[in-house]
Amino acid sequence: MASEQLEQFEGAATIEKVASLCRRRGFVFPTSDIYGGLGSSFDFGHYGVLLNDNVKAEWRRSMIQERDDVVALDSAIILNPQVWVASGHVDTFSDPLVDCRTCKLRFRADQLELASCGKRPSKHPGEYSECDLTEPRAFNLMFETYVGALRDDASIAYLRPETAQGIFVNFKNVTSSMRVKPPFGIAQIGKSFRNEITPGNFLFRMREFEQMEMEFFVPPPDAEEWHRYWIDRRHSWHLDLGLRTSHLRIRAHEAEELSHYARATSDIEYLYPIGWQELEGVANRGDYDLRQHTEASGTTLEWVGHEERYVPYVIEPAISVVRSTLAFLCDAYDEEVVAERPRTVLRLHPRLAPVKVAVLPLIGKDAAMTEKARSLYEELRKTMSAEYDDAAAIGKRYRRQDEIGTPWAVTIDEQTIADGTVTLRDRDTLAQERIAIDGVRQLLVDRLG
Ligand code: GAP
Repeated sequence: MASEQLEQFEGAATIEKVASLCRRRGFVFPTSDIYGGLGSSFDFGHYGVLLNDNVKAEWRRSMIQERDDVVALDSAIILNPQVWVASGHVDTFSDPLVDCRTCKLRFRADQLELASCGKRPSKHPGEYSECDLTEPRAFNLMFETYVGALRDDASIAYLRPETAQGIFVNFKNVTSSMRVKPPFGIAQIGKSFRNEITPGNFLFRMREFEQMEMEFFVPPPDAEEWHRYWIDRRHSWHLDLGLRTSHLRIRAHEAEELSHYARATSDIEYLYPIGWQELEGVANRGDYDLRQHTEASGTTLEWVGHEERYVPYVIEPAISVVRSTLAFLCDAYDEEVVAERPRTVLRLHPRLAPVKVAVLPLIGKDAAMTEKARSLYEELRKTMSAEYDDAAAIGKRYRRQDEIGTPWAVTIDEQTIADGTVTLRDRDTLAQERIAIDGVRQLLVDRLG
């Protein structure tokens, strides 16, 4: 596959440029900024919230709404701690870490690029220092907390490191209350928490992040076929929402990199500006989780019906909102020069764009124009995310909308007052068409599909 040969991100984006635009335009801020921030944690501003919401809405549309074999769930973040013992996370959800006795820094042992002389990059880029590393030790990634008034071992609980377990422990509730039968899925979006050690790269690896996970329960003999099906479906989802084919590839895990629960996993990798990285994992978890919870809880989790009884296998597509949002931002980010003026534009798929349409009176101080523009804006915002802007010169207003990725701008000018037409400007082609003001809403609804 040609895409496999690609080594460098094709496009204008770098992580720094995307992060800078996100901050400048109110998508993403470093968290607790005024106190110096907190590693690998970010807050989302207005446009970031809208963009993330659109990513989640598209996931829900494809995984739940447009299917009849997947139901939704929203389980608690803090579960009975026995869940995490049974799932294997208390024992095995860890990274191997090494400490340097000299500089006191801590590194992931599997990410240390040791030179043959035993030197490793120092904390100062470009320098190398002799190193005095400890043996690797397992460091559990789960955040601990206490439930209730006492702070003793019996009250320790965990912030969930994946949403999946909330689904497995609800298997019986769902099968006995909903009209489902394997093959069927349970889908959930919600926050997960991991005490990640390797920081950096903006939204790529965070300590709290929303996951979008779906556990698809199938008869065991059909598991491999369904695994292939979901890898393909999820790959198409990213492409349909605009990621470039050459920036996506599918990579099957080697036996030694499989998680403790997985029989097979394929990652859908995206060529971020920092290189090929996991965007989404699609795992065949076999019957591991349902059997573990059956044994630990004493409640049998199996499918019973139509003269059959078995423990289903589970196929799991799992992705975080932030990895998806970051991939869409990197792919969409573009810089170009138009009429000798530089412009930065986010060519987001219209369904993902935080704002679908901007309504702009050509002259912000003209009462007739602003009145017409406001009334069109108030009509449009009932059906889609819209913005009204009458401040600054029209060119500056267009550039602002280009940077937040607004696919269409409607301009109200003198001719609108005379004949009821407006200009509709396309973010990508910059083409302007003259259309009747009364037809704007329906035209945009049709284009959004
Ligand atoms: N339930 C399976 C599971 O959680 P995972 O590969 O550890 O598997 C699934 O995580 C997805 O969650 C990843 O493919 C990635 O999209 C996202 N993810 C994992 N850790 C993350 C982090 N620290 N920050 C942002 N996203 C993360």
